[in-house]
Amino acid sequence: MKKDIVRSPFFYVGDKYKLMPQLLRLFPDKIDTYIEPFAGGGSSFLNTKAKKYIVNDIDKYVIELHRFISSYAGKSDELIQKMYDTIDSYGLSCSYRGIVVPEELKKKYVKTYYSHYNKEAYIKMRNDYNSNEDMLLLYLLLIYGFNHMIRFNGEGQFNLPVGNVDFNKNVYNALTAYLKFMSSNKIEYYNMDYMSFLNRIKPGKKTYVYLDPPYLISGSEYNKYWDEDEERRLCDYLDKLNDRGVRFGITNLINHKGRVNETFLAWSKKYKSYNINSNYISFNDNTVKADSKEVFVTNYGGA
Ligand SMILES: C[S@@+](CC[C@H](N)C(=O)[O-])C[C@H]1O[C@@H](n2cnc3c(N)ncnc32)[C@H](O)[C@@H]1O
Repeated sequence: MKKDIVRSPFFYVGDKYKLMPQLLRLFPDKIDTYIEPFAGGGSSFLNTKAKKYIVNDIDKYVIELHRFISSYAGKSDELIQKMYDTIDSYGLSCSYRGIVVPEELKKKYVKTYYSHYNKEAYIKMRNDYNSNEDMLLLYLLLIYGFNHMIRFNGEGQFNLPVGNVDFNKNVYNALTAYLKFMSSNKIEYYNMDYMSFLNRIKPGKKTYVYLDPPYLISGSEYNKYWDEDEERRLCDYLDKLNDRGVRFGITNLINHKGRVNETFLAWSKKYKSYNINSNYISFNDNTVKADSKEVFVTNYGGA
């Protein structure tokens, strides 16, 4: 990974961290206002230079976490100390500070010792979060939880089981890099459906809109918000942006596991389409890589 690419401290499912070196080469050279309607963990905006950032996601917890963590811009030591105090008060492991799982547990559960060691403390922390909704606890649940995901049941209770990971060097590095970015940049957050957001923001000629929507033909948790009608609605909207002279770039999957995203493929022919050397590997099946084609489509630049 290129040294200067920053990873979001959300370690978001489907994040664009690994693809950013390729995407950045295709982004415009100069961006005044950067607009991202499907921002997720933020790995894209964190790596893009602009004068101002306006980002949105429909998931209220993701946006609340962005707001919470970025409220510590310029005070990263304070936030990280609060995290350490909380980690210690629950008795969780913290490999970044050398608070590690005992050797005998490591030998007994060779590949799953973090989850065995942290399970009880994690469940206590999850119960506490479900009664007090403290954002710091939600962030730590994401760090110690299964696959770094955020998932709630129908009653609004966080319900992921413990994961096999803890607060390590990657978490520390991602948090400090994120807070460094936040201390020197201006970000506005929105928590809306992408279309309401775009209608509210009304991107103009000086803006750049980067879109990383749920992939219609893949199977992610957040695809519950997405279907064929949404895909068309988005493509129609992008045609309007193009008519207004606003630059956009959008990533999407064209082929995946024998499926073809016909709607997007037909639409993309009007614009410039670049193949992205994708790291797309299904969560359940790592054999599908060769069968997947990910693209970046833009209405500006290039041949
Ligand atoms: C592929 S992910 C974006 C990942 C992001 N680029 C990153 O690097 O972390 C797609 C995001 O779209 C959001 N989303 C899904 N449907 C939406 C909608 N109708 N309006 C706005 N956001 C939506 C999901 O919550 C999810 O965070």
